[in-house]
Amino acid sequence: MALHRLNSVTIGVPQVAETARYYTDFGLTPDSDGWFTTVDGGRQLRVVPSPARRLVEINIGAGDRDDIARIDRRLARLGVTAEVDGDRLTAVEPLSEARVVVEVTGPLHQPALPAPPYNAPGTAARGTGRAPGILREHPVTPRKLGHVVIGSIDQEATQRFFTDGIGLKISDVVPGMAAFLRCSTDHHNVLVTQAPVNFLHHTSWQVDDVDEIGRGATRMLDGHPERHVWGLGRHHIGSNFFWYLKDPAGNFSEYYSDLDCIVDDALWTPEVWDGAKSLYSWGPPPPPSFIEPEDLAALMTGAHHPA
Ligand SMILES: [Fe+2]
Repeated sequence: MALHRLNSVTIGVPQVAETARYYTDFGLTPDSDGWFTTVDGGRQLRVVPSPARRLVEINIGAGDRDDIARIDRRLARLGVTAEVDGDRLTAVEPLSEARVVVEVTGPLHQPALPAPPYNAPGTAARGTGRAPGILREHPVTPRKLGHVVIGSIDQEATQRFFTDGIGLKISDVVPGMAAFLRCSTDHHNVLVTQAPVNFLHHTSWQVDDVDEIGRGATRMLDGHPERHVWGLGRHHIGSNFFWYLKDPAGNFSEYYSDLDCIVDDALWTPEVWDGAKSLYSWGPPPPPSFIEPEDLAALMTGAHHPA
């Protein structure tokens, strides 16, 4: 087998309790030891203390021990020493100093969800009645962790670590700017962007459909307008609908739905993008703070003192 899923992400923040409340509001379920669970993916977010916000760990699921041995050999060729303990490999990405753990993990089974009926010109797909999306009253609860976006001062080097070392595949690229990488059939699970400092840009969480994105963000912003970052819109690369919000530590968290899948590698051709399409297809113009979050200068000042 090979890499097949993104298991979890661990983020370090100075304000653990406040951040934990934020992700509970976001729809994740608190578990023990700082963990939060998603509906389909189980324990997928861990929040731990850190003097400054940072990406602490990404955990990726591999098929078997042969994968682990292959990754170990490939990392060695890049000059990266990994620790292998049975079914689990741990390496440190040299720039961000984030731990990357690859461990033998069973497949993620997501129950197939029937698409809601949408009326279209000439087609009253739902017959007589109101749209299901406006009738929902249950809280929005993300299905799974979709991707993690890492800002790196050397995008190509961090990309090489994930592709040539860990074995992620390239789905699309924006030369000199970003690489969309996958360790599953999702269009991207790890995105590496060029940045003035190594930092965590955002984590992204799958919800059922675009109505759940709207309902979730609307609820998050009720009484907390400062949480808004960018949305509602649709990305061009990956096609997903998005709405970005900001946690109390400054990390962005995205609700997404309808991301492209690559179920047959032979049928996908990575493309090179630039300009506006590299960011989005439609939506409000991205605020400058989406590209360069407001705390980047502070993060740069503290960059020599990672936790
Ligand atoms: Fe995203």
